[in-house]
Amino acid sequence: MPYAYISGTGQNIPPRVVTNEDLVDVYGIETSHEWIVQRTGIESRHFSAEGVGTAELAEPAARAALERAGIAATDLDMIVFATLSPDYAFPGSGVILQRLLGVAEAKSPKFVPALDVRNQCSGFLYGLQVADSMVKSGAARHVLVVGAETHSAALDLTTRGRTVASLFGDGAGAVVVSATNEDRGIRRIALGADGRHAEVLCQKVWDIRQRPFIPVDEDGRGSVAPEMLWAHMDGRKVFKNAVMMMIGSLMQVCGDEQVEFDDIDLFFFHQANMRINQYVAEQLGLPPEKVPHNIQRNGNTTAATIPTLLAECVESGTLKPGMKIALVAFGSGFTWGAALIDW
Ligand code: UT7
Repeated sequence: MPYAYISGTGQNIPPRVVTNEDLVDVYGIETSHEWIVQRTGIESRHFSAEGVGTAELAEPAARAALERAGIAATDLDMIVFATLSPDYAFPGSGVILQRLLGVAEAKSPKFVPALDVRNQCSGFLYGLQVADSMVKSGAARHVLVVGAETHSAALDLTTRGRTVASLFGDGAGAVVVSATNEDRGIRRIALGADGRHAEVLCQKVWDIRQRPFIPVDEDGRGSVAPEMLWAHMDGRKVFKNAVMMMIGSLMQVCGDEQVEFDDIDLFFFHQANMRINQYVAEQLGLPPEKVPHNIQRNGNTTAATIPTLLAECVESGTLKPGMKIALVAFGSGFTWGAALIDW
């Protein structure tokens, strides 16, 4: 059985910076830099330009990951695209990214299968588990796993939506998971979900139980009430459960692999709230220098937080071959997961 390792990483963060002050000055939201920083550690986030879709945002991240892996897009055997802000209701963003990568129009065309993963903040880890299993089973040699979000188009950027709107930003990260005979790479991934909390953090937009699923007027024009249109969240419940499940899933993978926290060089936590991550690190006695963050600059980019942070740490030289790392995520669903990797 081959081993599966991350052979390439890439990220694409859109250039437009939106500071906490911009939320007040540009969008007129009743909030403050102090309020947001104190509770979340977020100082700014990036918003994509209007007209750029989530697959398009992901393309440069995917190309960078392919380049670092030293392979062409046509070498891919699968694309796994994790997002909660896909380009369309359907089809998924995976096929749009596949089109942008041009594999079907290459000299030797390849109709690379594309799978969308709808697991929000844990989407990247769920995607990684799929890629790991595909590679280890021999069904694939190279799988592209993407986490990408265009939150800015779907945030209620008014005072009414401030609890959610002040947290999220746009971005894309990608990794290539490849087969190797070297004894290294992804050692274990543990995933979990608790659907009893599905509505604690959710964005409904439509109700498929209704006929039609979105109320329409006599001209056939749909209209969606604000409570259906925008995401809503019980922030305190999310915070409490995030802390609990992040600690639990990290302990589980470490226990399963008989790895001590001290053996781990870097902890890549999902970037939902710096205070959640600091609390988890404190509880487990992890030194802050082993827990990198990009949430100060990027906000919560949901499925993109872990792959962008991996790419950033590879680019800065912080993440080096031979290191043992842990990845941990928690989010809407509730869903969560943790992974241990020998880089
Ligand atoms: O990937 C998972 C994503 N989500 C999370 O990780 C969220 C985890 N939870 C949190 O980070 C925190 O719960 C928040 C930062 C979202 C909120 O902090 P909180 O201390 O739990 O505030 P709260 O929701 O209990 O609201 C307290 C007050 C409310 O005002 P009233 O009703 O007491 O007058 C809110 O309207 O703070 C108000 N508020 C704000 N004020 C200024 C909520 N958002 C804002 C804001 N600026 N952006």
